[in-house]
Amino acid sequence: MARKKLLAGNWKMHKTRAEASEFFQSFTKLLGNVGDVTRSVEVGFGVPPTLFDTCLAKSQGTGVKILAQNCHYETHGAFTGEISVPQLLDAHLQGSIIGHSERRQYYNETNEAVGKKWNVLVKAGLLPIVCVGETRQEREAGKTLDVVKTQIDEALKFVSDEARSKEFVIAYEPVWAIGTGLTATPEQAEDVHKVIRDLLTRTFGEARSSTIKILYGGSMNAANCKDLLSKPNIDGGLVGGASLKPEDFASMVLTAKGLS
Ligand code: 13P
Repeated sequence: MARKKLLAGNWKMHKTRAEASEFFQSFTKLLGNVGDVTRSVEVGFGVPPTLFDTCLAKSQGTGVKILAQNCHYETHGAFTGEISVPQLLDAHLQGSIIGHSERRQYYNETNEAVGKKWNVLVKAGLLPIVCVGETRQEREAGKTLDVVKTQIDEALKFVSDEARSKEFVIAYEPVWAIGTGLTATPEQAEDVHKVIRDLLTRTFGEARSSTIKILYGGSMNAANCKDLLSKPNIDGGLVGGASLKPEDFASMVLTAKGLS
């Protein structure tokens, strides 16, 4: 079954509300008939909470998904600075990035926390984009496949049987490729994506596995996305820097549309 591609921007800690408005004005204009585009390619943006309302208002009726970049796995409580899944629902978001390497690295996000977040997000009907990926040292030590498999398997221990049946997306983001301009070659990325697909097939069965999107992230841009997106198990991208500029990201979305 052909999987619809998903291009998701991760804006990280960028943009004011005025900048987000300007972005959407240009981005939607560049795409032309946005509704038509999002019927063949899924498009989303992980944005900071201060931009939720602006992005939702500016993308209304386009089919573009607005996502969080993180969430807590508890529904409420004394967790200063955190945001809960009920709060994301209340804000009309459609999902959240979880387990990004920056959160694993700077905020000690563990596989257990990633699994618990995955569990509560899908139970609330929201889409988790579950990030995995190895560091440069791990790749050089030949541990890439083990690292990625462990990240998924360990997180899955905290996802209930019921929650496992709900839609999720995996994003393979080699840490050494994030924000560095060093992209994994399409072959390097496809090798890992294929291993992730095999793991998903063992866990969920062939039919279900063939529907699960696996995104690539790490210095993906307008120039290199076509070769990456042409690989059989690369179902889209999680895009940092290049998603901040409407021209670059619109061009990537249209490239993905051309491949669909
Ligand atoms: P860059 O595209 O800036 O390398 O960032 C990738 C990323 O971290 C997306 O989540």
